[in-house]
Amino acid sequence: MAQVIEKAVFPLGGLGTRFLPATKAVPKEMLPVVDKPLIQYAVEEAQASGIKEFIFVTSPGKDAIKCHFDRAEMLEDTLNQKGKSAELASINGFPAPENITYAVQSEPLGLGHAVWCARDEVGDEPFAVILADDLVVAETPCLKQLIGVYDEVGGNVVAVMDVPKAQTDRYGILEIGADDGRIAEVKGLVEKPKPADAPSTLSIIGRYVLQPDIFEFLARAERGAGGEIQLTDAMAQLIGRAPFHGLRFEGRRFDCGDKAGFLEANVAIALARPDLHDAVVRIIAEVK
Ligand code: G1P
Repeated sequence: MAQVIEKAVFPLGGLGTRFLPATKAVPKEMLPVVDKPLIQYAVEEAQASGIKEFIFVTSPGKDAIKCHFDRAEMLEDTLNQKGKSAELASINGFPAPENITYAVQSEPLGLGHAVWCARDEVGDEPFAVILADDLVVAETPCLKQLIGVYDEVGGNVVAVMDVPKAQTDRYGILEIGADDGRIAEVKGLVEKPKPADAPSTLSIIGRYVLQPDIFEFLARAERGAGGEIQLTDAMAQLIGRAPFHGLRFEGRRFDCGDKAGFLEANVAIALARPDLHDAVVRIIAEVK
């Protein structure tokens, strides 16, 4: 039986330059979609997928993330006294502080480097990686779907979706082997290829289940696309050592690393909320 996935790494050390000036003092992952920061959606997805240990890879100056997940006793007492139980519930489901560890990425050298910074906390066991700016709304949490596949076939599993050919240069792209329409065998991986060079349009979305030998390759990693140490390049070297699959997950993914995608997430999630639905419909009609 495959080893249980209990740890998840959350790379949070990026500069968030696409969202400046909002991200000058506030980490990108703290930007709220409706009323919840992106990182909290990611953590809730991990919790609902069975993750027990949460490893936050942050850069210096990202204190807001730690503050968000620390206990806030005064706030809790006040909400308690005022009988604000819904508000209290909204800050109460967090992982216990002792189950969150922080690894520091002192330089923004890329996603591969961020994951490598978590090597001591992960140790020698398979683990998950969640990119909080890919927000996935799904009946079964996206990571749980991945872990389901991992439980069946083991090895490495990444979440994938088809993107328009013109957008392959934004993603890690799969070269695929056997494919049953849901699960595709990964034969090769390329980070951000030009459309003309892309082996397919099946692209990686920010959810991974990885074997710990990825750290061997990350340790030796050279800079790849964009001058950064790429997770995709290290993953490519895992191919052939253990099964490696892409799962076309069920659910809707919002690219919250992009302004339009972030706004789309806000509108879609607000529309799905009974307390906001009517107001959002009215606002959209009026704005148009
Ligand atoms: C990262 C990964 C890329 C993946 C993408 C998903 O890119 O490097 O392989 O497809 O996340 O969102 P980034 O968006 O950080 O440029």
